[in-house]
Amino acid sequence: MLDGLFEPNIAVAYGDPRANWPLALPQEEASIRHAVVKRQGEFRAGRALAREAMAKLDLGPAPILSAEDRVPIWPDGMVGSISHCDDFCVAAVGRRADGLMAIGVDVEPAEALPEGVADEICLADEKIWLGKLDDRERPIFERLIFCAKESAYKCQYGVTGQLFGFDALCVHFDHARFQYEARFMRAIGPFRIGQTLFGRYVMTEKHLVTGMALGSDAFSRAGQSEIGRSGRDWPLA
Ligand SMILES: CC(C)(COP(=O)(O)OP(=O)(O)OC[C@H]1O[C@@H](n2cnc3c(N)ncnc32)[C@H](O)[C@@H]1OP(=O)(O)O)[C@@H](O)C(=O)NCCC(=O)NCCS
Repeated sequence: MLDGLFEPNIAVAYGDPRANWPLALPQEEASIRHAVVKRQGEFRAGRALAREAMAKLDLGPAPILSAEDRVPIWPDGMVGSISHCDDFCVAAVGRRADGLMAIGVDVEPAEALPEGVADEICLADEKIWLGKLDDRERPIFERLIFCAKESAYKCQYGVTGQLFGFDALCVHFDHARFQYEARFMRAIGPFRIGQTLFGRYVMTEKHLVTGMALGSDAFSRAGQSEIGRSGRDWPLA
């Protein structure tokens, strides 16, 4: 179902966070000791799925601790991202040795956003585009904009460690290729105004999933088109 969300050098695993997941590793469990049952379930699902994805890359089952701000601390040499909604959890991981600097993934229910949220998170250009959609499509694409911004935010956070609002990125979709671009509307860390990052998306009847990988020279080696490559203007090391 998520084939094509990333290049093949990024492994993806997904599942239902309501299933009976095994306990996380003891060091990881410490961060959910006082959490409610639902949170424990989604956390354990994310860790188990991240390790399932790591195994696909022949990476051993190392712990993925949580920083104080909840950002996952990936084992040395790895980058990754985790996302969960009520009934879906996804983890994506890759190797730094493949030139990857960061990954961002987000899953959302394929439903309208709560009242007023779209207005808050969408920029004028995005609202103009949404205004051209019919009433049936618009709520889903509002949600997709949210989802795309969350992935891009998580991905850039792996490089900048910076928190910012939804007005900092403007999203534009290429529906023929199930890809999107997220353009910086402000300079954030090393990203310039106007710099564009590229991601992909998958839509099913129930879920929207977006994914972004930053700075992979493996993408250019594989001869991907420009829109398939993240961080086009990024000064790759
Ligand atoms: C951090 C944030 C992106 C998480 O999104 P969410 O929809 O609440 O939850 P998700 O299930 O998709 O993701 C949660 C996972 O993301 C990871 N995560 C948390 N903070 C993160 C961060 N700053 N960067 C990258 N990953 C992060 C964690 O793995 C977490 O799961 P875990 O605690 O079980 O390990 C969101 O809460 C947030 O703070 N957003 C900031 C504002 C924003 O998005 N701005 C958009 C700018 S355009």
